[in-house]
Amino acid sequence: MCDRDSQVSPLGVNRRFCIAPMMELTDRHFRYFFRAISPHALLYSEMLVAQAVVHGDREYLLAYDAEEHPLALQLGGSDPELLAEASRIGEQFGYDEINLNCGCPSDRVQAGRIGACLMAAPELVADCVHQMQAAVTVPVTVKCRIGIDRDDSIDMLMQFIASVRAAGCRVFIIHARKAWLEGLSPRENREIPPLRYEHVYAVKQAYPDCDININGGIKTPAEVSDHLAQVDGVMLGREAYYNPYEMMSIAQQVYPGTAGHAPSRVQLVAHYLDYMREKTAAGVPLPHVSRHLIPLYQGVPGARAWRRQLSEGAATLPADALVAAALSSVEPAEVCRDLGVPTTSPDVPAARSC
Ligand SMILES: Cc1cc2nc3c(=O)[nH]c(=O)nc-3n(C[C@H](O)[C@H](O)[C@H](O)COP(=O)(O)O)c2cc1C
Repeated sequence: MCDRDSQVSPLGVNRRFCIAPMMELTDRHFRYFFRAISPHALLYSEMLVAQAVVHGDREYLLAYDAEEHPLALQLGGSDPELLAEASRIGEQFGYDEINLNCGCPSDRVQAGRIGACLMAAPELVADCVHQMQAAVTVPVTVKCRIGIDRDDSIDMLMQFIASVRAAGCRVFIIHARKAWLEGLSPRENREIPPLRYEHVYAVKQAYPDCDININGGIKTPAEVSDHLAQVDGVMLGREAYYNPYEMMSIAQQVYPGTAGHAPSRVQLVAHYLDYMREKTAAGVPLPHVSRHLIPLYQGVPGARAWRRQLSEGAATLPADALVAAALSSVEPAEVCRDLGVPTTSPDVPAARSC
């Protein structure tokens, strides 16, 4: 389904349009699904703690489908040797980039000295990055915030970037909000601190040799184009997950060579259904795979029934019956039949409701 051209930057992969690492959301099944929407977007894994990668079930944690490339592995940790070993393992699994999480503010990760708290320790981050880079040939990148707690001046951000850059890192993804390490939940930390895109633009101006990518609150093609006039790439998180079909116009805009790549929603379902059949036959519980289809019809008449069918039916129905039941709320039966997608009502076009 994907028609790839090579739009690879000198720093490895093309990162003009990236999909953010999101725990519990951007698992391998989501990434496979999203790849059919954008052949080129750089996809990030959920954060994996370096310790788990080194000592845990690697196949379970790191395996993915070849279609997911280009694909970055995000690691959490602050032990340089452990991070280097986890990076080596990630490269062996074929990931195109290894990213270090310096942006997550949750208490749980702070306790392990992981995430945004590392912005207060730029020398340690530099050491981690240095050792990670020495262990792999793929790019090692850093995702961070514009600051933490009261330490949110542009100077603090510049010093952080300078230290990590001095260790050899040339790619930064900057969430344009500071994080409060105490007092706000991770969710509040994605909403309450104001977005300061100008701080990220200033980093690009100060370090033109670095690949600077902006993240936080970006939703529309127009916003993407405004940011790309200032920085090298955009990273979208929640909007990409909860409104995936709208990402196609962003992908087409960022990679004009793919303007002809415009599968309909039901074509995406047909493509993903083959994958659902394959994964469930291999023993993956259907809800783990089918849940990523739930936001696909966002904004379309019948979307509520589509979501309900997928949510309620996944535990009991097989993949074909689940998809047929859900599609009956949003697509005419003849469209499904033409694509060979199962339908519940072969002779009667589906009634549409909001
Ligand atoms: C459910 C959820 C899980 C997240 N998990 C991670 C993570 O594992 N690593 C990380 O660096 N950021 C994580 N984030 C933050 C996103 O990568 C991103 O920086 C943030 O959502 C802001 O971008 P957005 O406004 O486009 O969503 C998570 C965000 C959400 C909503």
